[in-house]
Amino acid sequence: MEMHKEEREGQQRKAELLSQYKMGTIVEMRLSHRVVMAPLTRCRALGGIPNQALVHYYSQRATNGGLIISEATFISPTAIG
Ligand SMILES: Cc1cc2nc3c(=O)[nH]c(=O)nc-3n(C[C@H](O)[C@H](O)[C@H](O)COP(=O)(O)O)c2cc1C
Repeated sequence: MEMHKEEREGQQRKAELLSQYKMGTIVEMRLSHRVVMAPLTRCRALGGIPNQALVHYYSQRATNGGLIISEATFISPTAIG
C-alpha cells in the first residue's frame, strides 16, 4: 500500500530525530540521537550542592549517547530569584 505524503514526511522527521549528530569544534561530541533535554529549574541541589536526588533524577532521563543539559545551582543565597 502506498504511503501518504504526510506519513512519509513524518517518518523522515522521526528518522532524522533519531539519527547521530556531531557537535562542538574544540571538543567534539558525538550524540547518538538529537533528543536533547533542555536545562530546567528543578532546584534539587539543596544549599547549592548537587546530591543523590540529582543523580537519581538525571539517571532516570539519561540515554546512551544522549545529551542532558542539567539544571543550574545558585552561586549564593542572595542570587536566588
Ligand atoms: C538555568 C536554566 C533553567 C531553566 N529552567 C526552565 C524551567 O524551569 N522551565 C522551562 O520551561 N524552561 C526553563 N529554561 C528554559 C529551557 O531550557 C528552554 O530553553 C525552554 O523550555 C524553551 O525551549 P527551546 O529553547 O527549545 O525553545 C531554563 C533555562 C536555563 C538556562
